Amino acid sequence: MKNENSRIQEIFSKCNFRGEVKFMEPMNDHTSLRIGGPADVFVAPHDLSSLKNMKRILKQEQIPFFTLGGGTNILVRDGGIEGAVISFHSFRKIEVLSEDEEYVRLSVEAGTPLQRLVNFSKENGYSGVEGLVGIPGTVGGAICGNAGAFGYEMKDVLVSITIMDSEGEVEKFDTNRIDFGYRWSSILPTDLILSAEITLKKDKKEDVSAKVEDFLKRKREKQPLSEPSAGCVFKNPPGLSAGRLIDESGCKGMRIGDVEVSTLHANFFINRGKATASDFIRLMEEVTYRVKEKSGVILEPEIKIVGRNEV
Ligand code: EPU
Repeated sequence: MKNENSRIQEIFSKCNFRGEVKFMEPMNDHTSLRIGGPADVFVAPHDLSSLKNMKRILKQEQIPFFTLGGGTNILVRDGGIEGAVISFHSFRKIEVLSEDEEYVRLSVEAGTPLQRLVNFSKENGYSGVEGLVGIPGTVGGAICGNAGAFGYEMKDVLVSITIMDSEGEVEKFDTNRIDFGYRWSSILPTDLILSAEITLKKDKKEDVSAKVEDFLKRKREKQPLSEPSAGCVFKNPPGLSAGRLIDESGCKGMRIGDVEVSTLHANFFINRGKATASDFIRLMEEVTYRVKEKSGVILEPEIKIVGRNEV
């Protein structure tokens, strides 16, 4: 482990790279849950050529990598992440590509916070992403996991995505060549989403704004949006609500270490202070067990669990 770390440090100190590079970077600083051990190296390229160059080196040196969106739908284990974590926080441009009477076509870079896109649409009277209000994370993450709420899904506004493949080649894909499902897409983890083109419908600013405000109000009433969480922990089983099943199994307020099942919405687990990933996983197991005992339903995680157990 020590040797591998010095090897990685040596490689990166020689690499021609514009951007941020941090070694043994605590992932709890980069996740909404504020949980997670260190990444061997955390990199945030500032431009495409640096990203390409870095990708080539990672491949050549066989260093594994993990692409970080907003860090809002993941649980990073206490041992942190092996290899490189790539952040896209320098890639956050929204551009109008074309427009006519009815529609507007936008290009949105992958590191753009999803809420910046929602606000941009609200300010300009563009309809199509109102239901995505209050969902944290980046546009890249939202595409990859097909984020959605209130009957709105990311896939419904997507026209194409531009990715960098495992060879470092940049390619644009029409979204009809990609499969999307419930909080899922067929985009490979080795393909880095760089940007997307989306189409929104022009509407009255007041109408778009009213919808956004209404959805946000409903979310705030039902979800602990201001507390450190990773959003919904489990997927809704077909036709059922995971939150309701957990609630009916008597799990609200249940706590292991500093991880607590929210008393507002039972499908949110909150970090009450110094929560660890192992406590979080134990609580997930306990909740899964209780729901299975009570209703016979086996819950599937919605959050992605990544990283190693021990440093
Ligand atoms: N419910 C309870 N107890 C609870 C939570 C919910 O009885 O503790 C009941 C509610 O009263 C309601 C039903 O369960 O009758 C459904 O709850 P809610 O409307 O809050 O929606 P949900 O199915 O729990 C889904 C998404 C959310 C999304 C909302 C709003 C999943 C797993 N959850 O929640 O997405 O914000 O609908 O559209 O798909 C997320 O993806 O991280 C997320 C939070």
